[in-house]
Amino acid sequence: MEMIREMLLISALMLLQMAAGVERVCRFNQADPCYAALGDKLSLQLVSNTRHQELHLYKKFNNHNKQIILSVANNNETKHDYIRNRCEFILDNGTLIINTVTRADFGVYLLKHYFRGRTASKDLQVNVEGVEQICWFDQPDPCYAALGHKLYLPMVQDTRDLHLRLYKDFYSPSSITVFEVNVNKETKDESIRSRSEFFYENGTLIITHMSRADSGTYELHHTVSGTVYDSRLRVEVEAPIGSVQVYVNCSSSHTHKSLCVTPCTSDSFMIHDS
Ligand SMILES: *[C@@H]1O[C@H](CO)[C@@H](O)[C@H](O)[C@H]1NC(C)=O
Ligand SMILES: *[C@@H]1O[C@H](CO)[C@@H](O)[C@H](O)[C@H]1NC(C)=O
Ligand SMILES: *[C@@H]1O[C@H](CO)[C@@H](O)[C@H](O)[C@H]1NC(C)=O
Ligand SMILES: *[C@@H]1O[C@H](CO)[C@@H](O)[C@H](O)[C@H]1NC(C)=O
Repeated sequence: MEMIREMLLISALMLLQMAAGVERVCRFNQADPCYAALGDKLSLQLVSNTRHQELHLYKKFNNHNKQIILSVANNNETKHDYIRNRCEFILDNGTLIINTVTRADFGVYLLKHYFRGRTASKDLQVNVEGVEQICWFDQPDPCYAALGHKLYLPMVQDTRDLHLRLYKDFYSPSSITVFEVNVNKETKDESIRSRSEFFYENGTLIITHMSRADSGTYELHHTVSGTVYDSRLRVEVEAPIGSVQVYVNCSSSHTHKSLCVTPCTSDSFMIHDS
């Protein structure tokens, strides 16, 4: 019992630290995904120093689509517009500091690094915590969307002459075409028609009021010059986990510490101490 209580306290403290906006440092050689909090600072250590090295950092849209974010060559850096005004690159320690993390920073980053005639490529998954979820096709993990909330699905970068089709559970008998764009003509399935919108400026489909029925495997077919590129995303819709609230209740006879993950329901965990 003591041990469980201690474990709960430790998890709660970790959650609190995250909620308090502690600066995160992620490294390109870490095995786990990098967790960043919406609106906070994130340090991405790309290499340990940048002397006589060349590196290029990309954001992946899916396995065949990427966007350059930062290039460093001969101690000279070039940043993409997308990030220019809210980040700083520290040449000395090869660290990119993003001052204000946005939802769009979620995704898989690719680092290409040239050093003494050798080339290395590394991926890093960055997750942004917040209730609205962004998921990318071909991301390694399933997409966990929050029940009743919004899901952002960036699908393509270039929306000129766009021809794409989004299927749900493509290989099952209940397969449906959820969404389709053919040049500028959009077709949506009835299930998302009144609660979704496609933005041409960033190729993103936003679905609101996610329900459990939206769970499934989504398959994107994107046609470019007659070639069909396909990518996949497993979506799981779950009850949202909110922020942590700590209640300390002192009365004359004893102290109550209650700790729960909001929304506070009977299945939220709580600690009572007397
Ligand atoms: C750095 O690179 C940019 C773009 O490639 C170029 O315009 C600029 O002159 C370079 N600066 C130096 C100091 O080399
Ligand atoms: C890199 O240097 C900057 C500026 O000195 C510092 O704020 C940051 O913490 C350093 N990051 C790492 C990962 O060492
Ligand atoms: C795409 O654009 C819409 C409308 O401007 C915006 O609400 C959304 O956050 C953008 N999505 C991404 C992933 O940047
Ligand atoms: C604090 O604890 C007392 C005694 O258990 C209880 O009567 C009271 O309602 C609690 N107050 C709050 C705000 O939880």
